[in-house]
Amino acid sequence: MADVSIRNVTKKFGKTEVIHGISCDIRDGEFIVILGPSGCGKSTLLRLVAGLEEISSGEIAIQSRVVNALEPADRDIAMVFQNYALYPHMTVYKNMAYGLKMRRMAKDEIDRRVRNAARILELSELLDRKPRQLSGGQRQRVAMGRCIVREPKVFLFDEPLSNLDAKLRVQMRLEIRKLHEDLKITSIYVTHDQVEAMTLGDRLVVMDNGYAAQIGSPLDVYERPATMFVAGFIGSPAMNFLKAKVSADGRSAVLSGAVRTQLSEGGLPAWAGQEIILGVRPEHLELNGHPTDGIQLTVDHVELLGADTLVHGRFGEYHTSLVARLPEVHRLQKNAMITFSIPPAKLHPFDPETKKRVAG
Ligand SMILES: Nc1ncnc2c1ncn2[C@@H]1O[C@H](COP(=O)(O)OP(=O)(O)OP(=O)(O)O)[C@@H](O)[C@H]1O
Ligand SMILES: [Mg+2]
Repeated sequence: MADVSIRNVTKKFGKTEVIHGISCDIRDGEFIVILGPSGCGKSTLLRLVAGLEEISSGEIAIQSRVVNALEPADRDIAMVFQNYALYPHMTVYKNMAYGLKMRRMAKDEIDRRVRNAARILELSELLDRKPRQLSGGQRQRVAMGRCIVREPKVFLFDEPLSNLDAKLRVQMRLEIRKLHEDLKITSIYVTHDQVEAMTLGDRLVVMDNGYAAQIGSPLDVYERPATMFVAGFIGSPAMNFLKAKVSADGRSAVLSGAVRTQLSEGGLPAWAGQEIILGVRPEHLELNGHPTDGIQLTVDHVELLGADTLVHGRFGEYHTSLVARLPEVHRLQKNAMITFSIPPAKLHPFDPETKKRVAG
């Protein structure tokens, strides 16, 4: 096991810089998830840690040892890819043993490691099967088994579940978490799936276009997103962003030219009289008994999800669109009126210029 330190790392492909100075200290035994949309640089960052790409500037250290110049094979890491090609003509046992055999490890040590990994992954009964005789999830477990037998210091995962169907993904997600709790191997896991990230990670690195927009625990990132990008990326449906004007005393704000809403304790005195963006998550809008007090939404359409209901509509002078998530079934017709209030503590203020969270 090992800690991994990423220090001001950049990566250029030709003249184009795709990783712009990322720093992150990963603790021994920690499970870190790198989360972000397609093309933001997740795989590149992981490949830099693995040594599959050379870094352009900065430093990566594993267990306090700078590894910039080390070959992948000398870094004591194991990587699980999205396309984990197993050898089709080899049994499960041989697939797991192959890498160790190549390293000329003693036969009985190989046997011990393979059987141990098979036990952990519940593959013991399947050791004589060929990959084509396995389900997708079982194949994925064999791919992880190949990594476990190496007893690496660090595990790297690049979207290992994206080829599986939704149900299997949920199951494998739980298995990976359990595996981590058993083995406590420092892990870096890349995904664009926010649910995977929230449930697996001790901490998340949310990437935006080659930058680390925020590094924090899943709840930190959900409750105090540092930028509008992070706020919009985490949470489903996405956070509503409302243009607002802060009152002269900084204690309230007017939404969509018409609706006054209280700001949380202390208000935003530094923003008195100015335009700001207020974010509110669909699940934090509250149905309001007072039809004239709060956001009067004209319903466009509703989505009945079974357990809860998504209400899409418009409100205020500028017909601002808004989505609310209600925790029960509401059959609302188009153009119905429904009133919401926003608990002040659930407002997320952002600077309209920098798109960063405003203190307060
Ligand atoms: N070998 C390369 N040469 C040039 N550009 C590259 C190379 N590899 C990646 N890139 C570019 O770097 C950026 C980041 O790519 P990367 O593969 O890290 O994204 P990602 O976040 O993993 O995306 P995805 O979710 O689609 O896998 C992209 O713009 C990509 O086109
Ligand atoms: Mg990728």
